[in-house]
Amino acid sequence: MSMDDIYDQDGLRSVHNHEFMVDADFQRAYARGVTAVGTDYRWHWRVHTGLWAATLASHLPGDFVECGVNKGFMSSAIMELLDWNSQGRVFYLLDTFQGVDERYLSPADRDVGVIDRNRRDIDSGFYTFDVESVKRNFAQWHGVKWIVGSIPETLPQVDASEIAFVHLDLNCSLPEVAAAEYLWDRVVSGGVILMDDYGYIGYRSQKLGMDQFARSKGLQILSLPTGQGLLIKPAAVTRRSVE
Ligand SMILES: C[S@@+](CC[C@H](N)C(=O)[O-])C[C@H]1O[C@@H](n2cnc3c(N)ncnc32)[C@H](O)[C@@H]1O
Repeated sequence: MSMDDIYDQDGLRSVHNHEFMVDADFQRAYARGVTAVGTDYRWHWRVHTGLWAATLASHLPGDFVECGVNKGFMSSAIMELLDWNSQGRVFYLLDTFQGVDERYLSPADRDVGVIDRNRRDIDSGFYTFDVESVKRNFAQWHGVKWIVGSIPETLPQVDASEIAFVHLDLNCSLPEVAAAEYLWDRVVSGGVILMDDYGYIGYRSQKLGMDQFARSKGLQILSLPTGQGLLIKPAAVTRRSVE
């Protein structure tokens, strides 16, 4: 990669430095994500953000949670980078493994076309229904807890007492907000909530839902040019609304 290279993929065009793409640890983690799903989504900057957030969280006490796993690109990349078997933590992996549960779509989700996109993602095979093959991808790691079914119904199965990292990637709003609400009190100070779709084009219902959640905690979400949103839990959260 030359220093003049332009990053231009995944909805982001930038001349800014993206040397992370030639970092050996990044490349190894990213390649593990590609192995998990069998293709390259070309979302390097999003994965860079996810790896950064997970590494930060690895300095804190607590387990990791991913809501929306599918074939496991992001979680596999994180577990590879962090040498998960040496972490002594649990990674809770939650998914229906049947795509979006349409019972839990808000009017705003429906307005932005979540139903059509869900059906397309199922028909194209982007969403997997094959839980066993996903589990095989993760077989090299212990400290994994599978929670199969619909969020919010499955949230009580997250029995972690402390949580350092949450990745929300459900492609719909109500279950993401429900997960954030349910897990928040157990997220440790400095703990990270990374929202994959927060600012992404076509997913505004999730931004609206998570903004309301953050406001209720007196916080604001950082909108990243990757389309992701980032929230770090401060040491002492005031309940003051920022509205
Ligand atoms: C974009 S995919 C996740 C991609 C994954 N994070 C990765 O890195 O490859 C979204 C996933 O959310 C799941 N999902 C959507 N709504 C859900 C719900 N209410 N409960 C559980 N899983 C859900 C879908 O089945 C799908 O696998």
